[in-house]
Amino acid sequence: MDARPWWQDCVIYQVYPRSFQDSNGDGIGDLRGVIARADYFAWLGIDAVWFSPFFTSPQADFGYDISDYIDIDPCFGDLDAFDDLVAALHARHIRVILDFVPNHSSNRHPWFLESRSSRRNSKRDWYIWRDPSAGGAPPNNWLSLAGGISWEYDTTTRQFYCHSFLKEQPDLNWRNPAVREAMHDVLRFWLDRGADGFRIDAIGCLGKDAQFRDDPLNPDYKPGDAPFMQHRLVYSANGPQVMDFVAEMRAVVDAHSGEHVLIGETYLKPKELAVYYGTNLNGLQLPTNFNLLWTPWKPGAITETVAAYEAALPRGAWPDWVLGNHDQSRIASRLGQAQARIAMMLLLTLRGTPTIYYGDELGLKDVTIAPDQLRDPFGVNMPGIGQGRDPERCPMPWDETPKGGFTTGDPWLPIGRNGPGSSVEAQRRDKKSVLSLTHQLLALRRREPALSRGTWSTVAIEGDALAYRRALGERRFTILLNLDDEPKPISLPDPPGALVLSTHGDRRTIRQRLELAPNEGLIVEA
Ligand code: NOJ
Repeated sequence: MDARPWWQDCVIYQVYPRSFQDSNGDGIGDLRGVIARADYFAWLGIDAVWFSPFFTSPQADFGYDISDYIDIDPCFGDLDAFDDLVAALHARHIRVILDFVPNHSSNRHPWFLESRSSRRNSKRDWYIWRDPSAGGAPPNNWLSLAGGISWEYDTTTRQFYCHSFLKEQPDLNWRNPAVREAMHDVLRFWLDRGADGFRIDAIGCLGKDAQFRDDPLNPDYKPGDAPFMQHRLVYSANGPQVMDFVAEMRAVVDAHSGEHVLIGETYLKPKELAVYYGTNLNGLQLPTNFNLLWTPWKPGAITETVAAYEAALPRGAWPDWVLGNHDQSRIASRLGQAQARIAMMLLLTLRGTPTIYYGDELGLKDVTIAPDQLRDPFGVNMPGIGQGRDPERCPMPWDETPKGGFTTGDPWLPIGRNGPGSSVEAQRRDKKSVLSLTHQLLALRRREPALSRGTWSTVAIEGDALAYRRALGERRFTILLNLDDEPKPISLPDPPGALVLSTHGDRRTIRQRLELAPNEGLIVEA
């Protein structure tokens, strides 16, 4: 029997529930809609779905502001729909990963309503309250990741509360053991209901400095960067105590029967990221590795990122990779649609657990949103740094009809279409589409463990062409990627074996010295 945990030989697919499938015509995706699309996950060939939050929420930050951690927001469904969703996915051998938002609740959560009601309330210390500095100024210089400062003054009790994001998202006080216990109960609630793991939101924000020291200025800040980047987040986040909190969460999920995964939202360079695996791997199993997001799209830079990350991993730690999510401009907009296919081939042939953001398998691009249709509060708070996060959150185009098969009502954001032929229905019919390519890549990865577990090594770099090897025992593959839209020659050190998969689907022969077509990627037996 294979003793490997399921989350290692696994491809995760991220669903942004508002935008996946609407079942009741209100223009917002919901859980019954996801159930109706369960066969799509099975056909595509992914192993787990991570759902952005669908818990009870005033939706100030579209679900990342939770007012009841153990219920479903009516716009998404109810607990019965949740149970049916788990059953539908488990019946197809697909795991369910929930978004756990420990750093902050909604300002309408009953805990916060109590906390702000009086300084003597028993829940006062469940949130982070501080006296004003001299002259009534905020307690320190911390900046909110959603724009503005991290402090909101409460006139009733004459103290400031801390919010790392919107003022509607007050930060919980993780130093208070009662808060930790309540949040552990949330984990237990969903484990009992069938969750297979959690993606932990803004995990670093739990590590706040006990002395609330000012963050230092960031010398690398450039105009146009998000305002919070004016500081280095040295004291407002990622302090050492966060690892104690993570180890406790890990103990909670490990104590539950079965094997459960903890993924963390960790925007960190490899060495800092490695810390989140914990002492003797008692932390997160998969601290999210975002490093490809800020790597220049050049063979040398990509190779350096892979090597630096592999080298930083603690012994026994398992790697993971992402190219996008609901907070980032889509990969097809960053690199262009032709390169997005190469990016998918890269993502699905790196060692470790990849996560695909919904719609990236269609090569979807960001959608331009009319200024009066902006929905994302971050975009509204931080004008001048793009359109916020709406462009990458648009509804899934399932078919070629005007509403894309997503809803019968008015979609909450415009349908995320690139143009005719970009829907799931059209791309499933087109054997050369990026969806068909993703489908084939996933099937190959499932058949060939060398692609998920095998060792990784660079074979050749020539200009914009990259070749690397994945090897597990006798199974060895060379992946050749042209990162440019011009033809690129490349030579392999050994005569190549059979061609297994190609982005363009029209190559017949492979030679030791070959010319890659523009934006071409190949997988060959080595
Ligand atoms: C990170 C989430 O990914 C983002 O969407 C959210 O706005 C913040 N955390 C606050 O929860």
